Amino acid sequence: MVVQTKGRVLSNREIESGYFLLDIECEPIAGLAVPGQFVMIKASDDDHPLLRRPFSLYRSYPISHSEKKRGGQLSILYKRIGAGTLKMTEFKEEQAVDLIGPLGKGYTPPPLPSRRGSAGPVSVRQCRHDSRSGSSRLLTTSASLILIGGGIGIVSLAFLAERLKPANLFVFIGGKKSHDILCLEDFKKLHAHLFIATEDGSLGFNGTIIDLFFSQLERFKKSEPHYLYSCGPMEMLKRLARRIEPGRFVCQASLEARMACGFGACWGCVVKTTHPQTPYQRVCKEGPVFPLESIAWDAE
Ligand code: FES
Repeated sequence: MVVQTKGRVLSNREIESGYFLLDIECEPIAGLAVPGQFVMIKASDDDHPLLRRPFSLYRSYPISHSEKKRGGQLSILYKRIGAGTLKMTEFKEEQAVDLIGPLGKGYTPPPLPSRRGSAGPVSVRQCRHDSRSGSSRLLTTSASLILIGGGIGIVSLAFLAERLKPANLFVFIGGKKSHDILCLEDFKKLHAHLFIATEDGSLGFNGTIIDLFFSQLERFKKSEPHYLYSCGPMEMLKRLARRIEPGRFVCQASLEARMACGFGACWGCVVKTTHPQTPYQRVCKEGPVFPLESIAWDAE
């Protein structure tokens, strides 16, 4: 179910140069959202900018874990990059914000072995939710979870990891400069194996996160299941798709796209797919998460 509603700003602060964390009390959306979904936010009450902006969810707590202890809470980690996000940096505590969400299809978690030994997919909502801490726990899985995030794309993956709390977590974070490397502390708390790359060499590996990932392939035995989730610029995902060995990983990719409506009406966000019956799909409606191999990357 998608709702249009007003949320109430709990806080809005710069956590890194050009990056802001926005906490909003918004029970109707927080109670429904899963990792990989997004919301459309109206950045101002006037017509500038006219269109809402899409934002991946960084956190969603059906019951607020903040000290204010009211309602459900959404957190959005966003980058100041244009007129809309510049307006958002001016959001004040207690201000009402117009939201639509949760939108799109989120990540599909890896299957868990059942008691009888057969595997089946698990809904992210099936995670046990702890209303006091605001955290969710999923019974551990032996499968490796690999997350590859470029820039602000790491945000939805941090949410996924926080919900699943996997035992074997490998996280690859890339950015142009060191201040573009986000969510490090979140992954440290989950005892993740962390790999960092910056294009200017100011932190970690000097190069792209995709080059770093492929330099570490021997860590992932072919005989074991590995679930790979990626989110970032199209160019990054394209490089991943071109180099990855078919069938070695179960891969999902969350796509970034320019969006006007955000709920499937305008067809302004389509991508070409490899399915003959549905050669074009909407990032906002059928996505933003797709199996990596279902996108026609050479057409992008
Ligand atoms: Fe309108 Fe996707 S943004 S259909």
